[in-house]
Amino acid sequence: MIMQTSPSSSYRLRVSKLSKSFTLHNRGAIEIEAFSDVSFCIDPGELLALTGPSGAGKSSVLKTIYRTYKPGSGQVLLQRGGQLVDLAACSDSEMLEYRRADIGFVTQFLKILPRVSAVDVVAAPLVALGRGLENARAEAVDLLRRLYIREDLFSLSPLTFSGGEQQRVNIARGVIAPKKLLLLDEPTASLDDKSAAMVLEILNNLKQQGICILAIFHDRQRMEQIADNEFNIMEYNS
Ligand SMILES: Nc1ncnc2c1ncn2[C@@H]1O[C@H](COP(=O)(O)OP(=O)(O)O)[C@@H](O)[C@H]1O
Ligand SMILES: [Mg+2]
Repeated sequence: MIMQTSPSSSYRLRVSKLSKSFTLHNRGAIEIEAFSDVSFCIDPGELLALTGPSGAGKSSVLKTIYRTYKPGSGQVLLQRGGQLVDLAACSDSEMLEYRRADIGFVTQFLKILPRVSAVDVVAAPLVALGRGLENARAEAVDLLRRLYIREDLFSLSPLTFSGGEQQRVNIARGVIAPKKLLLLDEPTASLDDKSAAMVLEILNNLKQQGICILAIFHDRQRMEQIADNEFNIMEYNS
């Protein structure tokens, strides 16, 4: 379903009364509520932090917006330029196009093919946009250096990296060719202070470019350094 709005180059996300439950078919079809009645808005250049205790449904909200999970009820309205689309109601093929063009998702764990070097994993989104390989690799190297990845790891597969190194590769891949809406699931969870501060600096820079960011932080102090607003799932459900 596509609704036309006034022409504008900006992107906004408005989530309205979004709910999701799982039916566990191997457990006598019992229903488990992941989250219910989640509503918030993200303006261009704003970072909204999704907070709440473990198991509150934070990761499920991100996965439902990205349509990894099928939405239950509610709307996920994305204003993309002059268009307003409901990500909870569009077709799978439309959703694939919105993901390709507009929505980035840095999940909690790096999922990549084996035998691809760290540099090529990070360069891939630029190459997909038509950037020449050498140029894309040079930018990937810059970003990996900024994130304090050791040079001798650049040509190796990140599958053998430590948790914190994998996380930085995952973030580098997610921000090298930033989409207009960025979803981040605990991007600083296994990072030391120095790397986490650099990730926050990179996110700040994306905000200045007008990108909408929805993020879950494992650490309240880091969240407060970067978030413009907070939506606490539990407070709105109690
Ligand atoms: N794929 C799934 N199938 C069944 N239950 C799930 C699934 N994903 C999440 N859940 C359940 O939904 C609830 C919220 O999980 P999650 O979104 O991971 O919470 P959070 O990220 O806030 O810790 C939990 O009770 C979890 O077990
Ligand atoms: Mg989670």
